[in-house]
Amino acid sequence: MKRIVILISGRGSNLQSILEAKLHAQVAAVISNNPAARGIDIARNFGVDTAVIDHRAFPDRASFDTALAEKADSCRPDLLVLAGFMRILTEGFLKRFGGRIMNIHPSLLPAFPGVDTHRRALQEGVRIHGCTVHFVTSELDHGPIIAQAAVPVLSGDNEERLAARVLEQEHRIYPQAIRWFLDGKLKLEGNRVTVSAGRSTPDALVCP
Ligand code: GRF
Repeated sequence: MKRIVILISGRGSNLQSILEAKLHAQVAAVISNNPAARGIDIARNFGVDTAVIDHRAFPDRASFDTALAEKADSCRPDLLVLAGFMRILTEGFLKRFGGRIMNIHPSLLPAFPGVDTHRRALQEGVRIHGCTVHFVTSELDHGPIIAQAAVPVLSGDNEERLAARVLEQEHRIYPQAIRWFLDGKLKLEGNRVTVSAGRSTPDALVCP
């Protein structure tokens, strides 16, 4: 059975949706850089091994990443899943797990990389917003796109309501994207991902 390791920093709602999806994989560990992350309790409740590697205990990014990579490697993962993991990973880390790291981002990339995506989407007046699952590369929030879900921006929306509508879709597409990976249905060619997921699923795109 394939093995996945999930990296978190906080609330853990995506982690929960992945664990609830009962994927055909062993979740070898959930690793948090934040000892106070609520997701750690979620993992424990599912009986998953947890580890905390507190970035504040390291003098620099490189030494934190080395410790994180060693811990992750010891779990022999086929895939690393970033689920609200709020640290930027160094080149060395990315090389070690190249092509085997996925992230979810709360916008329709390449629009709104970085933070505060819902506030910025409202400010820009976009009519369609959403979320993206992508492979991680050294360019922040710019790796090859695996799946996206779009939600309408409604009149009277505020950041909270829009975020909740997007999060609902995150919980739907992230387990799906991981399932595709585990089933060998994702093919990465250059910066493009193709999905061979059957007739009913449009290539590399999931809509509500
Ligand atoms: C999600 O919105 C995800 O897209 C972003 O960070 C947030 C994490 O939420 N990368 P949670 O910890 O999964 O609830």
